[in-house]
Amino acid sequence: MIISKKTQIAIIGGGPSGLLLSQLLNLSGVDTVILERSSREHVLSRIRAGVLESGTVDMLRQAGVFERMEKQGIPHNGCYLTDSDLMVHINFRELTGKQVLVFGQTEVTADLYAAQDRMGTEIIHGVEDVKINDLGQTRSKIDYTVNATRTSIECMYVAGCDGFHGVSRNTIPATVRQEYERVYPFGWLGVLSQTPPANHELIYANSPHGFALASMRNENLSRYYVQVPMTDKVGDWSDERFWEVLKQRLPTETAQSMITGSSIEKSIAPLRSFASEPLRWGNLFLVGDAAHIVPPTGAKGLNLAVSDVFYLHSALIDAIKTQSRTGIDGYSDRALARIWKSMRFSWQMTTMLHRFDDEDNFAGQMRRATLSHLAHSETARRELAENYVGLPY
Ligand code: APR
Ligand code: PHB
Repeated sequence: MIISKKTQIAIIGGGPSGLLLSQLLNLSGVDTVILERSSREHVLSRIRAGVLESGTVDMLRQAGVFERMEKQGIPHNGCYLTDSDLMVHINFRELTGKQVLVFGQTEVTADLYAAQDRMGTEIIHGVEDVKINDLGQTRSKIDYTVNATRTSIECMYVAGCDGFHGVSRNTIPATVRQEYERVYPFGWLGVLSQTPPANHELIYANSPHGFALASMRNENLSRYYVQVPMTDKVGDWSDERFWEVLKQRLPTETAQSMITGSSIEKSIAPLRSFASEPLRWGNLFLVGDAAHIVPPTGAKGLNLAVSDVFYLHSALIDAIKTQSRTGIDGYSDRALARIWKSMRFSWQMTTMLHRFDDEDNFAGQMRRATLSHLAHSETARRELAENYVGLPY
């Protein structure tokens, strides 16, 4: 026996993309249901980057999710790019008039869940075997299994917010999809430690030994990363080895003054750039990681998902409330225009700051020259700053 439901917008995926889209649609009186594969606990256990562009902060405020962000978020007016002991300060505030907010993505996701609970939105966890049908019809159907019961939702539109490994993107025929990918030959080993941050602002460190990043969650919770070969496993890395390698790559004065401690989380993430076009197929719209992946070097993952939501939420509200199709017909091209600019920035930051095993000595000189140019050119620093704080929607 199949149970059937109805909604206006069915959202596949209860991560930041799906939750924020649902919250904004609900606030405009549009009905949604979210289908999430994992438990809420599992979704909230994911450790993710936490640098929010000013546009993301505005969107979360519009969604009514700002109390903790305003109380606990740490405003940052700049960051450092370093080449051994050369430290280049990128002053966002001076160069762009904007700042970013350091506030963990996990906290954003938790606050979005709380807001959706207050809204009374139906979020169905533990769904399996999701199938998206009838995308070319006036109403589409999503079949899924939950608690061993096959269920079906009828809807007007489907938002594919189910991440890189979801079902939405592959529902678009392979003959229609154009995919672009760059897999980097290294990963980031990340450590969370209950220690004060090494620096009051983030340090993106380039060194002859490889890349490192010094970040934070709050004044007593630090987040660090070092570039490692893709073949490394977390078990290969004791805390002692991690701190030794991190200090080798950070500027001497930072390495000598920083406080280390036991890791409370340690993991290795691969780095890739990926994008799939188009973002729409009939009534289906791809959002966030379902459509694109960026290396974390530019801190764009969450922020790019939010800009997709910015374009799609208003398009869907228009389609539902006024039957205007202009927004949904233009969504893919509008979102992709900004996606590719963020893709470029993330790729540039990654290639500028990481050592590639097969590189020749010329590549190292190019990296050093890029950092030196940043040190001496306000124009170069402004170009980097305007990308880092977030290009206009
Ligand atoms: N059915 C239902 N849910 C699914 C399915 C499926 N077939 N496949 C995946 N999901 C869920 C995942 O469990 C996850 O909770 O979709 C959600 C996708 O969330 P994310 O992967 O976080 O993607 P997104 O919401 O777009 O957020 C992008 O998250 O991964 C980071 O770096 C990324 O910061 C960026 C942000
Ligand atoms: C993080 O704090 O996890 C972080 C910050 C900036 C990045 C990537 C990760 O570019």
